[in-house]
Amino acid sequence: MKHSGNAMALDADVILDIKDISVAFGALKAVDRVSFKARRGQITSLIGPNGAGKSTLFNLVSGAIRPSSGSVEFNGVEVTGFSPHKLLHAGLARSFQITKLFFELSVRENLRLAAQSLESARHAFLPLGRNHHARQRVDELIEQFRLHQKVNEQAGYLSHGEQRRLEIAVALACKPKLLLLDEPTQGMSHADTEETGAMIQSLAGEVSILLVEHDVGLVMGLSDHVVVMAQGAKLAEGAPAEVRANPAVQAAYFGQRESDA
Ligand SMILES: Nc1ncnc2c1ncn2[C@@H]1O[C@H](COP(=O)(O)OP(=O)(O)O)[C@@H](O)[C@H]1O
Ligand SMILES: [Mg+2]
Repeated sequence: MKHSGNAMALDADVILDIKDISVAFGALKAVDRVSFKARRGQITSLIGPNGAGKSTLFNLVSGAIRPSSGSVEFNGVEVTGFSPHKLLHAGLARSFQITKLFFELSVRENLRLAAQSLESARHAFLPLGRNHHARQRVDELIEQFRLHQKVNEQAGYLSHGEQRRLEIAVALACKPKLLLLDEPTQGMSHADTEETGAMIQSLAGEVSILLVEHDVGLVMGLSDHVVVMAQGAKLAEGAPAEVRANPAVQAAYFGQRESDA
């Protein structure tokens, strides 16, 4: 993405601006005064060892929990404490670490419900055949995620990798400006991880992405900007190569065997 020297233009590049955000669970500071920015059309990744506070930060950004202090600005608007539903309306969508698909419904039905979820109640309950806008979006997603073979299959019968990809398609159904993904490749085979990584990369530009991942290889290959957390705090941030070379990051993160991360 191009950056001009103009401060206004730089601000317009920022889709998500987290300032000094904190939350504690009892005495545990799960997220401790973390600040960072995510830029439009880019993939910003949040990495860190298990328990670093990544999912908690994700929950703060997506509105699942409220921060005790600090602020979240999304697309130029302060949204601190907004509900997930209100954030979705503003253009911030998330996929979950634990799958939230309707397993007994078909792939197409899962996509249809998601595509219609932001429409008025009157339209949302129209059969798909009569809702041209939603039908068009569902067709686009089937094409983009190459789900043709699976459209009529129940989501519960898809492979784990297919379910995780369907979940991303569901999150994209309402054309969000920012997509939050929490460990989208968790539990996937190596081949599925690679395919999902390529798919995520192909989405950048169309949508801004905040990716929470512990697979360092994946993150380094596809991110524009990497934020490293350890024990609730931000340890470092920068371009992938810069972060990888940071001695504090190596000690806290890469020093671990990846199977521990
Ligand atoms: N709801 C909760 N109640 C109490 N402690 C929690 C809760 N959620 C997370 N934690 C704790 O907060 C810390 C950060 O957890 P988490 O954000 O899930 O880390 P990560 O996603 O980086 O592995 C961990 O020590 C975890 O046990
Ligand atoms: Mg987590």
